[in-house]
Amino acid sequence: MAKNKITVVGAGNVGATTAFIAATKQLGEIVLIDIVEGLSEGKALDIAEAAPIELYNADIIGTRDWEKTADSNIVIITSGLARKPGMSRDDLLAKNVQIVKSVSEKITKYSPDSIIIVVCNPLDAMVYTASKVTGFNKNRVMGMAGALDSARFSYFLASELDVSVEDVKCVLMGGHGDDMVPLPRFTSVSGIPICEFLEEDKINTLIERTRNGGIEIVNFMGTSAFYAPAAGAVKMAQAIIEDKKAVLSCCAYCKNEYNAGGYFVGVPAVLGAKGVEKIIELELNKDELSQFDKSLSHVKELSAKVDELLS
Ligand code: LAC
Repeated sequence: MAKNKITVVGAGNVGATTAFIAATKQLGEIVLIDIVEGLSEGKALDIAEAAPIELYNADIIGTRDWEKTADSNIVIITSGLARKPGMSRDDLLAKNVQIVKSVSEKITKYSPDSIIIVVCNPLDAMVYTASKVTGFNKNRVMGMAGALDSARFSYFLASELDVSVEDVKCVLMGGHGDDMVPLPRFTSVSGIPICEFLEEDKINTLIERTRNGGIEIVNFMGTSAFYAPAAGAVKMAQAIIEDKKAVLSCCAYCKNEYNAGGYFVGVPAVLGAKGVEKIIELELNKDELSQFDKSLSHVKELSAKVDELLS
């Protein structure tokens, strides 16, 4: 069987960390690409040099040359501006749409059969951009946000309850923005609903902290998070490479599902060798649906701006 090849576009904080985690998990051959001279070469070499200590294959190169990315199975797009204090994810749209456009053109040329995982912000609109520019089948283009936002929610819950993070499972929907929709009704600790452990007020406080999870970190360090976003992207890549049929929240194309009408938005989905293999349609209650619809209209507005910028 041919080796898996994973290209990580962007060797900044998120990209380099993604490449590092993917290398430690030995997911395949890794190509880290960036436009800044020396950056991806340096970081890839550094990751390779840690291999004899951490004991993984040093199967990684850094490059500025797209030809070296040819025939990747998976391309993870992390390139683009990151938030600074005072900025919303939406403030990045105009710049990042151009970056994702140019990267998507390269992916179409060099890895026409790949599956794309977008990580840059504003997430849902950037997935839409990659889909529009590549014209790939919609199951092959997706975004990493749900894995991150659910991890944040799970971590906050596990800390509050003093239980293992492994046992907290949650579902989170909607766009990757302040109006994302964590769903406590579908959140449990080893199958025990969290309402058995916590009062509604406490759950709501943790939901609010999850919604503001990105900015909490930006406010601490002046730039956006990267360890957890990178871990989320690798989790998705691994689910695809190993055909795990993993159930996780991600930004996926919904035509009739959730009455989304043909937009990329966060939903629970099954990830396997074909990419997004299935969207899981939950029976949402009135309140959950109205939160989801509000978040979806925001995603639609941003996608309309993408249409304008690409026209
Ligand atoms: C965050 C950025 C990556 O949520 O959107 O931290």
